[in-house]
Parts: sequence; structure tokens; C-alpha cells
Amino acid sequence: MTEKNIILETHDLRKDFGGLVAVDAVNLQVERGSLHSIIGPNGAGKTTLFNLLTGNHRPTAGTIIYKGQDITHAPLHRRAHLGLGRSFQITNLFPNLTVLENVRLAAQAMSKVNFNLLKRADSYKDFIKRAAEVIELVGLRDMMLMPANTLPHGGKRKLELAVLLAPNPEVLLLDEPTAGMASEQVPELIGTIDTVRRQGGKTIVMVEHNMNVVMNISDKITVMNLGRVLAEGVPGDIAANKTVQSVYLGELYGDFSSLGSDHGG
Ligand SMILES: Nc1ncnc2c1ncn2[C@@H]1O[C@H](COP(=O)(O)OP(=O)(O)OP(=O)(O)O)[C@@H](O)[C@H]1O
Ligand SMILES: [Mg+2]
Repeated sequence: MTEKNIILETHDLRKDFGGLVAVDAVNLQVERGSLHSIIGPNGAGKTTLFNLLTGNHRPTAGTIIYKGQDITHAPLHRRAHLGLGRSFQITNLFPNLTVLENVRLAAQAMSKVNFNLLKRADSYKDFIKRAAEVIELVGLRDMMLMPANTLPHGGKRKLELAVLLAPNPEVLLLDEPTAGMASEQVPELIGTIDTVRRQGGKTIVMVEHNMNVVMNISDKITVMNLGRVLAEGVPGDIAANKTVQSVYLGELYGDFSSLGSDHGG
């Protein structure tokens, strides 16, 4: 078969808030193993779409298919068990526990073995092992025994990523991962996300405002405007797309037409 390997897709997805159509007839197809970014000006419906995928909002119409299963009405925890990992808020970290303990608990929380007392000792070792692997992957090995609240800001973001990865989700839904970060810290976190995708074999769907980041690491970009998909394609095509440029001109990001040809670092 020449058909693409689609892990997550939506069909005519729609979300109304009263009279406002925040997400309108969105057909999204996320390829397995890809990094798929969703961009668009303020109020385009990106966060709403994301919340529909994670199960935080219920769609007004349309369907969401994950690995061939209709999860349109599946609750949050069911999506998580199926392997859809959503980004946690910083408050999900236990500030006084070490990096290792935070990640170990996250691995344990999602495991069925949690309830199997007979296997407890073995499982504990397994969870520690899993936690150590994930910590290594996100580059926090040197900070493994530090309490979470003593990490630098960038370290906390990596820990959030590790906590998200601990239960071994197949798809990561990242909600503006670089928001609030100092610009000099952004490349390192992005490098980590790229490593996670490549070494961890994950599919990543990311809502992100930093256009440099998006253009550099995305396999595919979906551009939204006024609730609808305005354009979709590889970064070079999106950067060169005149309609996309006109939507962005005068918007938050200004003119990014130069980004397609020269990515810089
Ligand atoms: N819970 C809600 N109740 C009512 N209206 C909402 C709600 N959430 C979002 N909206 C509206 O839906 C539209 C899309 O909002 P959304 O937050 O999805 O945009 P966005 O693309 O994420 O924008 P931004 O880039 O500013 O984060 C906006 O007009 C917004 O005001
Ligand atoms: Mg938003």
C-alpha cells in the first residue's frame, strides 16, 4: 500500500462557543513518527483544536480517529491509556521530590501493575529503570537527584517532558512548549524535543508560536485562520505561501517570508 501511515486524524471537526465557530470543518491528518505543528494568528482556533484532541473540550460535530479507533467522545484518561500523551502543567510536578522520583511516579501512575501487589518489588525496579531511561533521553541525568523546585526554568521544562514521556505515550501533544522561555534557552529545549521524536520514535503534535522553531523542526505545518485550515504543507511551502504570508503580515509574527530560505542555527 502506498497509503500514508496516519496515527491521528480528524474529520470535519467543529467546536462552537455560543455563536462563535472556534474550529470549523477541520480535517487533520498526523503521520506516524512526524512532528506536526499547528500555527496561526491569535484566535485562529489552535488551542481549541488541541483541546479537542486531548479531550478537554467536546466537539460540536465531527470525529477524531486515533489508530483507527473513534475517540471523539473518549474521556481524558482513556485517551491517555491508548497512548495519547498530553502536556501537563507545571503544577503536576512535585516540587520537593527529586527529578527521578517525579518521573518514577509518572511512570507508575499510568501502569496497571500499580494495583498488583505481588509484583510490587519487581515493578518498582522497572519504574526506576524506565524513569532513568527517560531522564537520560531528555538530558537531565546530571540533575536526577535534585528536587524539582531547584531546577533552572529550562530544566523544569525538560522534566515536564520527561513526566509526559514516562508512561511511554505514542503521540505527544505539546502545548506551546517554549512559551515563557528566555530565547537563549529555546534551542536546547527544541533539540530535546527533536531527540525525543527521533530516538524515542514518537509522533509529536505541537502548537507553537515561535516561528523559527516551527520552521526548523516541523515535518508538516497546518496553518489555521478563523477556525479553518488555511494551508498545510512542509515548512518551505508554508513559508513561501502568499496567502499564509498575508494572514501573518501585521500580525504578531510579522513577515516570516525570509525564514523559508535561511533557517540559521
Ligand atoms: N472556552 C471558550 N469559550 C468561549 N470562547 C472561546 C473559548 N475558548 C476559545 N474561545 C474563542 O475561540 C476562538 C479561538 O480561540 P483559541 O484559543 O482556540 O485560539 P488560538 O488560535 O489558540 O489563539 P492564540 O494564538 O491567541 O492562543 C477565539 O475567538 C476565542 O475567543
Ligand atoms: Mg492558543
